[in-house]
Amino acid sequence: MASKLTLRILRYNPETDEVPYYAEYAVMVDPTDRVLDALNMVKWYQEGSLTYRRSCAHGICGSDAMRINGVNRLACKVLVRDVGDFVTVEPLMGFRVIKDLVVDMEPFFAQYRSVLPFFINDARPPERERLQTVADRERFDDTTKCILCAACTTSCPSFWANEDFVGPAAIVNAHRFIFDSRDEAAGERLERLNDREGVWRCRTIFNCTEACPREIKITKAIGEVKKAILYGSPRATK
Ligand code: SF4
Ligand code: F3S
Ligand code: FES
Repeated sequence: MASKLTLRILRYNPETDEVPYYAEYAVMVDPTDRVLDALNMVKWYQEGSLTYRRSCAHGICGSDAMRINGVNRLACKVLVRDVGDFVTVEPLMGFRVIKDLVVDMEPFFAQYRSVLPFFINDARPPERERLQTVADRERFDDTTKCILCAACTTSCPSFWANEDFVGPAAIVNAHRFIFDSRDEAAGERLERLNDREGVWRCRTIFNCTEACPREIKITKAIGEVKKAILYGSPRATK
C-alpha cells in the first residue's frame, strides 16, 4: 500500500546559492520502491532542477552513491521500507559538489588511474588464452567486483583527513591486478602504493568494507597489499 515519504535533500547550486540548504519533498511510495524511485518522483513531478547521477537502476553502474540517512549507499539498492517515512539524502563527503547530489569524481578517477588499473604483460601472448589455476584466479576474485561507486573512499576518515590519500577504491583496483598471476606490473603498483599517500594511510578503520555495496572485503584486500609491500612481492604472501 502506498504511503507518504518525506525526502530531506541537501541542495546546492554554486551558481545561485551562497551555501547549501535542506529542502523537503513529500512523495507517495510503495514499500518496495527504492530511494532512487522516490528521487525520480521528486524530479519528474515536483522539482525538475533536482540533480543527481543514475543510470542502470540495478546496482551495476555505480553512479548513484550518496549519503542516505548518513550512510553511503546506492540509492537504487535501498528500499524505502528500510529507511522509515523520513529520509535525509546528501552528497558523498570529501568531493566538491557540482550541483545537489552530483560531486566532482575527477580526483577519485585520478587516484584510480594512478595504480595502473589494467592488465600489463608485454610477453608475446600464447596462441590461446593465458592460463592460470583456479587457486590463482581466486586470489583476486573479490576485487574484480568493484563498480567504482566511491562509497568506500568517501566513508574513510583517513581520506577525509587527507584528500591526497589514494583511497580504498584505488587500492582495491590495484589488488585486482597485483594478485593476478598473469600480470607483470605488480612491482610498479606496489612501489606507487608504498608512497606516503599510499596504503600506509589506511588505519584499518573498516568504514570502507561496511560501505561497499558489492560486499568486497576491502580492508582484507588492503592488508594483503600492505603485506605484499613488506615481503617485496605478491607471490610471497600466498
Ligand atoms: Fe564501490 Fe566497493 Fe568499489 Fe569501493 S570497492 S568503489 S565501495 S564497489
Ligand atoms: Fe579507511 Fe578502510 Fe583503511 S575506512 S582507514 S581505507 S580500512
Ligand atoms: Fe546504477 Fe544505482 S543507478 S548502481
